[in-house]
Amino acid sequence: MALPSRALSPAPPDPILGLSEAVRSDPRPWKLDLSIGVYVDESGAVPVMGTVLEAERRLAERCDSKGYLPIDGRPAYGTAIRDLLVGPGHEIARSSRSVTVQTPGGTGALRVAADFLVQAGANRTVWLSEPTWPNHPQLFSLAGFEVRSYPYLDDAGRRLDLDRLLGALRSAGRGDVVVLHGACHNPSGVDPDAGAWRSIADVVEERSLLPIVDFAYQGFGRGIREDAEWVDGLARPGLEFLVCSSCSKNFTLYNERVGALTLVAADAARAAAALGHLKIAIRANYSNPPAHGADVVESILRDPPLRGRWEGELAAMRGRIRDNRAALVDALGSAGPAGDWEPLRSQRGMFALLGLNGGQVARLRDEFAIYAVAGGRINVAGLTPSGLPRLVEALRAVTAD
Ligand code: LMR
Repeated sequence: MALPSRALSPAPPDPILGLSEAVRSDPRPWKLDLSIGVYVDESGAVPVMGTVLEAERRLAERCDSKGYLPIDGRPAYGTAIRDLLVGPGHEIARSSRSVTVQTPGGTGALRVAADFLVQAGANRTVWLSEPTWPNHPQLFSLAGFEVRSYPYLDDAGRRLDLDRLLGALRSAGRGDVVVLHGACHNPSGVDPDAGAWRSIADVVEERSLLPIVDFAYQGFGRGIREDAEWVDGLARPGLEFLVCSSCSKNFTLYNERVGALTLVAADAARAAAALGHLKIAIRANYSNPPAHGADVVESILRDPPLRGRWEGELAAMRGRIRDNRAALVDALGSAGPAGDWEPLRSQRGMFALLGLNGGQVARLRDEFAIYAVAGGRINVAGLTPSGLPRLVEALRAVTAD
């Protein structure tokens, strides 16, 4: 039996990771990579946090086994991630109405969530923001969902269009799944405020929707606790939801694949029952999670001095991203193409959406060796002092006609 013919037809490159491959093979030494969402420092390098290296040193000294982890990972890691998410002492933590399983990255958490919901007979319709992270649609459709989208941004692409968002969610079927970005919306950096989260939760409740919150950037927006403000919007009696956390960015652990899926149920008995089904989804996918990265995270979060240093390192990354945003808006205002750039200053997280068409993104790449994701999503952290003026000049050129 031969491979199916579709397996042999040309496959499109991944819209984000495919660009990293293109950057690597671009011989132009002045190339500027603003594509993939990884934190890079002033010199353009992807740093490893000092606290991560310290935790690794300690782990190496006491490592005495490479045996399998439990299907759902180490319980202490799960508790540490839950507390990072909701804050220790939160009603969700005290009532035991949540369970957290360790996953390979935030993408692993999303896939486990999707498989778990299909396996458990949830509605097979998922609503994604338009725009959203390009991996969301294929991840959910390959898991068996029909993908629908809800509008997210205003026509200028700079601010949340809450009315249109709520209108679309009101048209969803009862029990449909809706993916919400917890903080640092990818690709736009536009986040709902506390009032908007309450309105979203009202519609979620009215329509009995099931939210999956993609929370890959905790600590990159306003702060660790501030970025989790949405939890209070959704933490209502009876409202159940899932959260996909990633430790790739906030612990600089991209290639260790560290994440978690937290399921918040109406009560502890429902959470415990659901855990058994999550374990089936995990076992059928990758059996049990890798240990190392999660051990690093757990060691940092459970050691108060190390945790304090980690929070400092994270605050420094957040601060640099904010400074880069301000420098970008200032530079666009003084020398860039005309446009409403000011909202980019207060948007959150790594990304800014410049609102470019396919031709303009291609010209940035071909003529200026500047790599951005579709729509003109740029990684603000990647703006080095020499790269910023080049970007501004290139933007003027590609938007001129
Ligand atoms: C991104 O959006 O660039 C990151 O989340 C990395 C990825 O896996 O796409």
